[in-house]
Amino acid sequence: MRIFLDTANIDQIRQAAKLGIVSGVTTNPTLLSKEATSDYEKVTKTICSIISGPVSVEVLAEDAGSMLEEARLKASWAPNVNIKVPATAEGLQAIKILSEENIKVNMTLCFSVNQALLGALAGATYVSIFVGRLDDAGHDGMQVVEDVLTVLDNYPELDTQVIAASIRHPLHCTEAARIGAHIATVPYNVLMQMIQHPLTDVGVRRFLADWQRVSQ
Ligand code: E4P
Repeated sequence: MRIFLDTANIDQIRQAAKLGIVSGVTTNPTLLSKEATSDYEKVTKTICSIISGPVSVEVLAEDAGSMLEEARLKASWAPNVNIKVPATAEGLQAIKILSEENIKVNMTLCFSVNQALLGALAGATYVSIFVGRLDDAGHDGMQVVEDVLTVLDNYPELDTQVIAASIRHPLHCTEAARIGAHIATVPYNVLMQMIQHPLTDVGVRRFLADWQRVSQ
């Protein structure tokens, strides 16, 4: 499973990039709105200069025609920009055309197997299943990820990759990897939680203390 970082914060992206395991970044209008600037083109270009893998940028338009215009513009910002398009009927029309134009699409706000299937049929490179928001609504978000993976496995001609999104805690990442999600897009704090274990900290301190005792 590959790890994408789910943030538009440049400091977090720089820090996480140093770890050497971040393959991409996903942004959305909410994440961008948390940043100090409203120059989204500049933010996107900076992210794309730090991370060479896919960087998802969302369209705000709601009708297919305007989505296409916005998507083409945003895709021109950097070669690794992917376009996030919501799982709506208008979005589906846009995804089909964008994929024919070789613009990579991440179908976002995907909450069901059927939405993911339609996105895959339209040619989306990724479908993002919002696990945390499904859990919040009383569903089993990870089960939807697993079901989407099963359905896509049934049709090898569909090469859409499944992103476990709306990740809230490290266990979501463990589960996503266990069931074979292609990607988990994780907030910075969850990424840091993934690397931490109290027994590692205790072990490091004990090794150092033992080494210091014999070397004195
Ligand atoms: C996915 O690409 C989205 O940016 C993100 O995972 C949404 O997560 P949230 O439910 O924490 O807003």
